[in-house]
Amino acid sequence: MSGERTTAGGGMEASYGFSAVDPSQKQGLVNSVFDRVASRYDLMNDMMSGGLHRLWKDAMVAWLNPPKTPGWSVLDVAGGTGDIAFRIVEASRGAARATVLDINGAMLAVGRERADKRGLVESVDFVEANAEELPFADASFDAYTVAFGIRNVPRIDLALSEAFRVLKRGGRLLCLEFSEVDVPLLDRAYEAWSFNAIPAIGRVVTGDGEPYSYLVESIRKFPKQEEFAAMVRAAGFGRVTWRNYSGGIAALHSGWKL
Ligand SMILES: C[S@@+](CC[C@H](N)C(=O)[O-])C[C@H]1O[C@@H](n2cnc3c(N)ncnc32)[C@H](O)[C@@H]1O
Repeated sequence: MSGERTTAGGGMEASYGFSAVDPSQKQGLVNSVFDRVASRYDLMNDMMSGGLHRLWKDAMVAWLNPPKTPGWSVLDVAGGTGDIAFRIVEASRGAARATVLDINGAMLAVGRERADKRGLVESVDFVEANAEELPFADASFDAYTVAFGIRNVPRIDLALSEAFRVLKRGGRLLCLEFSEVDVPLLDRAYEAWSFNAIPAIGRVVTGDGEPYSYLVESIRKFPKQEEFAAMVRAAGFGRVTWRNYSGGIAALHSGWKL
């Protein structure tokens, strides 16, 4: 059991939160987390982040700046209940085509229902598959997005090379993930909130705090900004940069398939 961050050299594949696991077990454990939280996922996101996740997601889509002309497509991996894909289609004024890919059918079922309510079923496809083995041909998409998803994928290096493969030349990767806070005092307040309040809120709202302990611990294990940027570069991406949000609570990495 260790709360040390992993590095570009690896480690996430063998950690389930702070517990060391056999890499072959990790995906099953993660899937059981999202099976348990799917129906309350969106509500809990608001409660855990005080609504901040909405601003970070808006900022991600603003940086992507999807074109408002037809023919452009995005793959949103670990897309869950559809937040990023819906924002992209709406920002493109309905011109973009989005594919939400997730390994968890329960999360996708919530996403499909939400797409229906928002009148977006014509613009968004839902695909149940693994980020480590994408069921698409090479050079299929103009952009690849992933928000708060990559840290749950056991073999992040495989997911990043799959991202590179399915992007067209000139295509872009944007990855939003919780990261390392670089503001004194905020780091301690954030730590107290994460390890005490979040599992407690999870227990009250969903009757089960364990999935939220995993989510918080996995945030702490994820490589910090520079290390993750090195992993993105190692997958072949160029012009790799990142922006911190809320003092580094979240970071948005960008890379291009040049
Ligand atoms: C924290 S949720 C993020 C959902 C959404 N992107 C958002 O920002 O609200 C993480 C998602 O990653 C998905 N996931 C975990 N492992 C995956 C994998 N190997 N391939 C695809 N999706 C995966 C989970 O099923 C879950 O829906």
